[in-house]
Amino acid sequence: MEDQAEKLREMVRRKNTSSSGGAAADAKVRDSLPEKNSRNQKEGKNTRIITVTSGKGGVGKTNLSVNMALAFARLGKKVVVMDADLGLANVNVMLNMIPKYNLYHVIKKQKTIREILVETEYGISIVAGASGFSQIANMNEEERQNFINELDTLSNADIIIIDTSAGVSSNVLDFIAAADDAVIITTPEPTAITDAYGIIKIIATEYDTLNMGLKLVVNRAKSVAEAKKVADRMINIAGQFLNLKVDYLGFIYDDSVVSQAVLQQKPFMVIDPKCKASVCVQHLVERMDKSKIKEAGGFGAMLKKFFGG
Ligand SMILES: Nc1ncnc2c1ncn2[C@@H]1O[C@H](COP(=O)(O)OP(=O)(O)OP(=O)(O)O)[C@@H](O)[C@H]1O
Ligand SMILES: [Mg+2]
Repeated sequence: MEDQAEKLREMVRRKNTSSSGGAAADAKVRDSLPEKNSRNQKEGKNTRIITVTSGKGGVGKTNLSVNMALAFARLGKKVVVMDADLGLANVNVMLNMIPKYNLYHVIKKQKTIREILVETEYGISIVAGASGFSQIANMNEEERQNFINELDTLSNADIIIIDTSAGVSSNVLDFIAAADDAVIITTPEPTAITDAYGIIKIIATEYDTLNMGLKLVVNRAKSVAEAKKVADRMINIAGQFLNLKVDYLGFIYDDSVVSQAVLQQKPFMVIDPKCKASVCVQHLVERMDKSKIKEAGGFGAMLKKFFGG
């Protein structure tokens, strides 16, 4: 009997190494990384990068980013929320903060990223994006190198959540491509679903999605069944027409606490940790925490992919 059990264990061990492609893939990433950015791998720290994006605007990205960050922090993780929205300073507004500096100042070497990182009273830190991100495309070589080095200093974090703007600007796509997990959020509204499918399609055609976990969240659902129906439809279509695997991460109830929290400029997880929306986010994060990153690429790989180096 013992023999058989050992054989089984060996089989599982072999299956795990061959199916994940893990070691080989890791080595490939490591080898292709510029020396400067491989610090993260050397230290064995694996920063998980999660982008939150949507096709349509106003479907709940910033609320999800901020509250998911809080839920991760409650699991003992060190979390940074980065606001990559080009237009409005969403995350700041939601937390009632007016940071003096943003990534623009980092790019222009006026500040280090550590200097602009703002600790919040909720146990998470934020990096203000605002106008800074529109500058990324126009960086010269020196600014670019400096920016890479600066971003690398965030690799102490366990989780970096990037709140992107809606739709498909190239910045957004770069972030999605660089992430370990791309969370796509939609509501049950037909227009939101169509636009979410649109962004999934663009991700599928533009990028190698093999090492990225595409995860769907249905926000503002009236019932478990409604959310499931929306998710099933999207996942089936993505599988059938794009040959793309999208995981259903979960849903968030339509909950009046959310809009009250927005008005009070506090996360809904703080306003009412037991409300329907909070409980849902807690579940999403627990599920996310249990799911593994597809490839141990981590932060160095993100920088590499982000800058196409
Ligand atoms: N689960 C929910 N229940 C009730 N209302 C919600 C829920 N999620 C979001 N909302 C409402 O939708 C509004 C927009 O949410 P949020 O700002 O998070 O969206 P967004 O996708 O970040 O928007 P934008 O594209 O403008 O950045 C909130 O102010 C809130 O009123
Ligand atoms: Mg937003």
